[in-house]
Amino acid sequence: MSRSLDSEEVFDGVRFPGYIHTPESLQAACSFQFQDTDVLLVTFPKSGTTWMQQILSLIFCKGDLWPIHHRPNWARMPWLEHISFQGFLAQWDPAQPRLLTTHLHAKALAPALKKSKARVVYVARHPKDVLVSFYHFHRMASFLPDPSSFQDFMDEFLQGTGFYSSWFDHVKGWLSLLQDLNMLLITYEELHQEPRSTLQKLTRFLGHPLSPQEEDVVLCHSSFAFMSQSSVTNYSLVPREVMDPARSSFMRKGVVGDWQEHFTPEQNAKFNAVYQAQMGDCGLHLPWTMD
Ligand code: A3P
Repeated sequence: MSRSLDSEEVFDGVRFPGYIHTPESLQAACSFQFQDTDVLLVTFPKSGTTWMQQILSLIFCKGDLWPIHHRPNWARMPWLEHISFQGFLAQWDPAQPRLLTTHLHAKALAPALKKSKARVVYVARHPKDVLVSFYHFHRMASFLPDPSSFQDFMDEFLQGTGFYSSWFDHVKGWLSLLQDLNMLLITYEELHQEPRSTLQKLTRFLGHPLSPQEEDVVLCHSSFAFMSQSSVTNYSLVPREVMDPARSSFMRKGVVGDWQEHFTPEQNAKFNAVYQAQMGDCGLHLPWTMD
């Protein structure tokens, strides 16, 4: 049965689009039995999920680029908590490590994850750029409410009352588990600025070294230029009534610091104050400056 675009699921205090989540799909994700060979990508939305899905798919593709050209990112690295997950899992080649994605918060998923040595790749992005990207995504995705204004959207983001809840809680919750889980933190910004050395850091963590030529293939097929033209990564396969590219592209800009084009000085000061209150003494060393 098709779910309505404007429905909403609240699970463990977090709001999710009901179009792609049910109470059952969310509950099943939390009791998922991870295997030590699984690779789980964890992100807050708009932090570079699709980019890292492409990179991880390429690292494990063993030179076979057919899926990179023909299978959508959401089939290659399905979201654990989505309605469609069990269908993708059933088709998984048992000889391949399972590549999985989630936006769930740590408090929901960590108990299941702690039972395994599955590798966890957490991608974090400067929250001001996440906010801007998420604002435009709300404009184009019909399963998320259309923001009334950028100011209102920012207020909701800072209060953590929007969909997927608080960015601050997501980052702090997951990164507090860096020592407890088999986990690597990668930032969107380092991928942007140092793509090859960041890729090498990732392949070392995965125990899956690549030759320089294989690295070239990964870097070429995960560039913004390539992915924005590829129908299996730019979401153009999704019906227009679900994601409308006339309102905003999914592969919108792919840059660092776009927030500077959107924030007024007052909004910036407000954001900085909340950031300081939330992150100031959390003990995490994130590589961003707020100005
Ligand atoms: P912008 O809206 O700022 O352009 P997610 O996949 O988590 O939803 O994140 C989407 C954001 O990642 C979008 O940001 C998109 O353009 C950006 N992105 C996707 N692929 C990228 C790539 N290869 N290089 C840089 N940015 C990329």
